[in-house]
Amino acid sequence: MKKATTCTEAPKNSIENYIKDIFSISNHPKLAEIKLDEKISTITKNFLQDDSVCTDIDLVSITHQFSNSQIPAEPSEITSYIDDLVTNVIDHSIHTSSPRFIGHMTSALPYFVRPLGKLMTAINQNVVKTETSKSFTPFERHSLALMHRLIYQFSEEFYQFHIQNYESTLGIIATGGTLANITALWCARNFSLGQKDNFTGIENEGLPAALKFYGYEGAVIIGSERMHYSFEKAAGLLGIGERSLIKVPVDSKNRIDLSKLQQTIAECRTAKKHIIAIVGIAGATDCGAVDPLLDMAEIAQNANIHLHVDAAWGGPVLFSEQHRHKLVGIERADSVTIDGHKQLYLPAGIGMVLLRNPQIAKVIEKYAAYTVRKESIDLGKRSLEGSRPGMVLFLGAALNLIGQKGYEFLIDEGIRKTQYMANLILNQPEFELLLEPEINILLYRYIPKHWRQKVATGELTKADNQLINQFNEHLQNLQRQAGLTFVSRTTLEVAGIPIVALRAVIANPLTTEVDIDAVLDEQIKIAASISVLEEER
Ligand SMILES: Cc1ncc(COP(=O)(O)O)c(C=O)c1O
Repeated sequence: MKKATTCTEAPKNSIENYIKDIFSISNHPKLAEIKLDEKISTITKNFLQDDSVCTDIDLVSITHQFSNSQIPAEPSEITSYIDDLVTNVIDHSIHTSSPRFIGHMTSALPYFVRPLGKLMTAINQNVVKTETSKSFTPFERHSLALMHRLIYQFSEEFYQFHIQNYESTLGIIATGGTLANITALWCARNFSLGQKDNFTGIENEGLPAALKFYGYEGAVIIGSERMHYSFEKAAGLLGIGERSLIKVPVDSKNRIDLSKLQQTIAECRTAKKHIIAIVGIAGATDCGAVDPLLDMAEIAQNANIHLHVDAAWGGPVLFSEQHRHKLVGIERADSVTIDGHKQLYLPAGIGMVLLRNPQIAKVIEKYAAYTVRKESIDLGKRSLEGSRPGMVLFLGAALNLIGQKGYEFLIDEGIRKTQYMANLILNQPEFELLLEPEINILLYRYIPKHWRQKVATGELTKADNQLINQFNEHLQNLQRQAGLTFVSRTTLEVAGIPIVALRAVIANPLTTEVDIDAVLDEQIKIAASISVLEEER
């Protein structure tokens, strides 16, 4: 057995010894590290086993703990530092794995990511370049090829040719869906306004020069009004401005209105506006709607426009035999975003964009003399981000350890339980289902007694809706504050009237029907307390 070295107590030693000690690696595991590991294991266990959503302490009092702006001169003693951290931060963090936390896209994780996270930190690979990661380059390319095949289903020969061919890029890993969407549109912009004759391309010459050269009056990105706000960031960064992100209205199912899309394309053409991309959504953030991707692909192809599908949430529905038809047409998209930290059940910090044309990412290629040289195979050459951790460790592991069948089960169960919740809501007079769920995001609201008759007869006025909105906002705030259960809320325009909706996102495999019942029961209880207070007033 390896002998533990003595634990060095920071404040008692000279700074030199202390620093040397915290970085040293020896055959003997450091006693301080062993103790810390044990402590962290206990903290993790306690945290994960607590089914409540969070403590009921209000954020303002937590804020007071973080008002000192001075870096401590002396190193702190580890045990007391960790104790403070637990008291001030960990204890008041959100139990995103709680079965009753069903309001956001973050949920429970499979056990294996925890030890793998430790491994990832320990080996500290920087996948920006092979000189700091080596095997992670082919490893990442491999995992991206698996995801690419899930979407595009190209031939075995296609994957054999491209998977490790450094001229090709089947996908790019980023820290999330936002950066994946931006990367996709960056590719679309540069590809469509690229090098031609004596023009060296938009990336080099900038937007005004590109528009002038190609004879356009402006450039736009078109998607539905349900697009994620990351596209606003993309429009700003790509130089076209948020006002050039055109949001086409949706139909009653929150899917892009195809005739309005076609009309918008025609108007842009007449106004000499270059269309960088059309964005389709597979699982809208607010409501889970899936755009008619096949029709959009047809429209984009006929108009020779890049089609990007934001499947950050809904992409993994492709694993399900029963539900994958909902995403039909995605295989014709030029680029597709999928978030790893959503329905691939990976820890926060991994998203990806998959590219239909393995050559398209060359239009964002960059080099540096010290590394990422022209002839290099470095992943940082074709990515928005620079230094990146080896998050692919999680992706590769999950694709193997959960596999197609495991993901299929997770997706099918999420959708089944969402349908269960929708049926409960339909059968309870206290609630109104606002939208038939397409996948596993559910929008509904609480209807105070006073308005139930009017809801049944469809006679609610704008003023009624405003009051019901206030009630639901209050209800959601109180539920969040109590910390026992959680759903989020959003606001949707329905026939020109803003409607506050309670929003359930059901993806956590630990969530059971009993938990769903409990969430709704708590809302009924909270609503009763609000009504009593209102009557007393
Ligand atoms: C549809 C969609 N696209 C993009 C994003 C952005 O992803 P991220 O938060 O990983 O940047 C989200 C996040 O909720 C999303 O729901």
